[in-house]
Formats: sequence, structure tokens, C-alpha cells
Amino acid sequence: MMPGKASGSQAPALEPCNPEAAMHVQTLIIGAGAAGLYCAAHAGPGVLVVDHARAAGKKIRISGGGRCNFTNIHARPEAYLCRNPHFVKSALKRHTATDFLALVDAHGIAWHEKTLGQLFCDKTAKDIVAMLLGLLQKNDAALWLQTEVGDITHDGTHFHVILHRDGKPTRVSAQNLVLASGGKSIPKMGATGLAYRIAEQFDLPQIETRAGLVPLTFPDGAMSPLAGTALPVRAQAARGPSFDEALLFTHRGLSGPAILQISSYWREGEDITVNLLPSSRDPAADLRALRKSAGAKSLATVLGGILPRKLVDALLGQWNLGGNIADMSDKALADLAARLTGWQLRPTGSEGYRTAEVTLGGIDTDALSSRTMEAKTMPGLFCIGECVDVTGWLGGYNFQWAWSSAHAAGTEI
Ligand code: FDA
Repeated sequence: MMPGKASGSQAPALEPCNPEAAMHVQTLIIGAGAAGLYCAAHAGPGVLVVDHARAAGKKIRISGGGRCNFTNIHARPEAYLCRNPHFVKSALKRHTATDFLALVDAHGIAWHEKTLGQLFCDKTAKDIVAMLLGLLQKNDAALWLQTEVGDITHDGTHFHVILHRDGKPTRVSAQNLVLASGGKSIPKMGATGLAYRIAEQFDLPQIETRAGLVPLTFPDGAMSPLAGTALPVRAQAARGPSFDEALLFTHRGLSGPAILQISSYWREGEDITVNLLPSSRDPAADLRALRKSAGAKSLATVLGGILPRKLVDALLGQWNLGGNIADMSDKALADLAARLTGWQLRPTGSEGYRTAEVTLGGIDTDALSSRTMEAKTMPGLFCIGECVDVTGWLGGYNFQWAWSSAHAAGTEI
């Protein structure tokens, strides 16, 4: 008999398989987040999903400001950070953003494109969770919430896992074990790094983890006067691509999509570069044109017409510039244009896992089949979603990785 249908509270009927194992399932999935739920929808039969949280898909529920940026129609390998940039190709190709969107459409979930290919639910992220739970139920998979994972062993053919539920231990044996418990981001939301510990137990190599898609911090109070100021910029770390998105000053430093994007590429001790005039093709020429039209206006007033005034005052103070723009030479304007388009800043750190949207690094993809996500040295052990060394850009790319990697594993199981 297979595990019973999805339910957070109801105990599914699981059948003893041998005297040593209290219950047997074909596949045990650890983590009822995006990847775990989607894998359960495709794997089967005989799937049990366990999670220590009170509700499934907690991050989905709060993602995208409650509307879930569930994919990006431009999802492509280049939008992912991974030590082996080729690893993501197979899974992303075999289950695309369009495939996931077809499912969303089939479930009557209304959506819209916000910007840059980012697709959001019209109503609520809960629609995505409901869709996933419905698929899981349709696949006769069971879901145990508020379940802690204890000791895990492998006897050569099966995994044996002690699960603690309602204060009672249950020994479950499974042919397949799927690690879908995410990364370390936002411990308050239940992130524990469990997948890394299990991977270590089974000798899977790992890439050092760090916080990604995270605000960058600066020395105490450095940005405080500008807190709340936002503007469109082009930002770039010492490595990686540049991103044309918004920057937001906060009391602790810099945030906003442009900064979150480059935070995944930034390393301690390196500068970031911010172009404050991203839409200008020839900033020096634009400043000369402003000088011509400004008459006797101050430089601060003129720049205040194209940039937030608070920022202008702070920058001119820092650069010791002022006076009337009419008095500035072409060379002085060219220097100013270079400063405005190549503003160099050195963050002291990041806000870390406390606020990071994702975890960089994780289970080394060299240890996994790119087609199935199965560990090469441990048949039956699958790793999907955020616990793998694959991190997408901001904008729906990370959920698409969760769907694609879960589909790759689920259809194999
Ligand atoms: P996920 O973290 O979703 O699920 C892991 C599950 O494992 C959780 O349910 C957790 O409770 C469970 N678990 C962990 N430790 C356990 C343990 N010890 N025992 C049992 N269970 C355990 N991405 C995107 O594409 N679009 C977006 O709009 C957003 N928005 C967003 C907002 C915020 C605030 C955050 C923090 C993140 C995002 N993301 C995002 C990123 C996205 O949420 C993330 O990439 C996916 O949720 C990863 O899916 P996983 O299933 O791998 O992990």
C-alpha cells in the first residue's frame, strides 16, 4: 500500500515492510518547499514528503511580496551562478519556464509580467502553494508536517530515516531519498542547512556557502542620511555582469534589486561600481548641455534635477565640488561625468543569511547527474533546489531552478 494522501495533520497509512523498518516508502523527500512539493508531484508512486514547518511552501507564500514571482520567461543558463556553468542546461531545457507557466494556466491562476520577464500571480502566492498541494494529492503522495528528521543510515539498498512526529519516533525506509530542504537563508523561516549535513554524511563534495541576493552593509551610519532614497542605476561587482535596476539606500547600507543582484558576485574586500546615470549614452555631453541651459544655477540645483537632491548634496560634499555649473570647464564636467557613472564603493559586508533570499554554493554539482540530480556515488540519493550549488538571479530564476531540478529528479524516480 502507498502512503496516504496529502495532509498536514492526518497520518497517512504506511505499511510495515520488514521487521526492522516500521514503514516503507518508495521515495522520501525531505523539505516541503518549492522543490520538494514539485518533485512529489512528479515522482511516484509511494512518496512521503516531510517538513519540520507547520505549513508547506512557507517561502513561496511570502515570495514576491505575497504574489510569488514564480518564474522568469528569460530563464537561461547564463542567469545562474554555479561552479560548473553547464550543469543547469539539461534540467532547464527539459522543464522550461513555459512548461511551468502551462501548468499555472491549466490551474486557472491569473498572472502578469511585472518587468524583465518576471511573472507574478495576480492575486496571491497561496495559489501556487494550493496548485502544488493539489498536484501532490493527485499523485497520492503523503505530506507530514511538523516532522523532525533524525538519524539517517543506508544499508546498501535502502535509506533508513528516523522521523520524529508528535513526539514519537518513526523509522521509515525508502529506496530513494530526495534532499529538498533548501539552504541557510532566513533561519527564522525554518532554514537549517540540513541537506548539507546529510550530503556530508554521504561524502558528497560541497562548495562553501554564502549569503546571496542580500543587502550590502557599510560602516556604521555611512548611508543613514540617505536612507529611503531610491533611484535607477547600473551596478556591477568586480566580477559578474552589470544590472540595470533600482538601488535603495538603507540605514545599514545599500539594497534594492540592483544591489541584491550584484551581491551574489561580490566578495569581501572588493569594490562595487554604481553608474548613477544608466540611461545616458554620453554623460559628459549631457552635462555640457545642462550647463548651456542652466544659466546661473548652482551645480547642486542642476544635478538635483536629474538625481535625488539628498544624494547630490552628499556626493558633492564628499567630492568637494560646488559653485555654479556655468563656471565648470569641459574637463571638469567630463571628470564629474566619470565620477557619476563610475561611483566606487567598498561594502564592509552583507546582511548575511538573516535577510538573504538565497544561499550561494552548496552541494557540488560535480557529484550529481545533470539529467536526474542523482548522486553519482550514492544511487537513490537526489539533491534538488537551493541546496545544490546553483543560484539564480533575482526575478523568478530561483523558483524556476526549483521546478526544473525537481522535475528532473521526479520524472526519474
Ligand atoms: P525552500 O527553502 O523553499 O524549502 C525547503 C523546505 O525544507 C522548507 O519548507 C523548510 O521548512 C524545510 N526544511 C528545512 N530544514 C529542515 C529540517 N531540518 N527538517 C525538515 N524540514 C526542513 N525566488 C524566486 O524565484 N522568486 C521570488 O519571488 C522569490 N522571493 C523570495 C523571497 C524571500 C523573502 C526569500 C527568502 C526567497 C525568495 N526566493 C524567490 C527564493 C526562493 O524562495 C528559493 O529559491 C526557493 O524557495 C528554494 O526552494 P527549495 O524548495 O529548494 O527550498
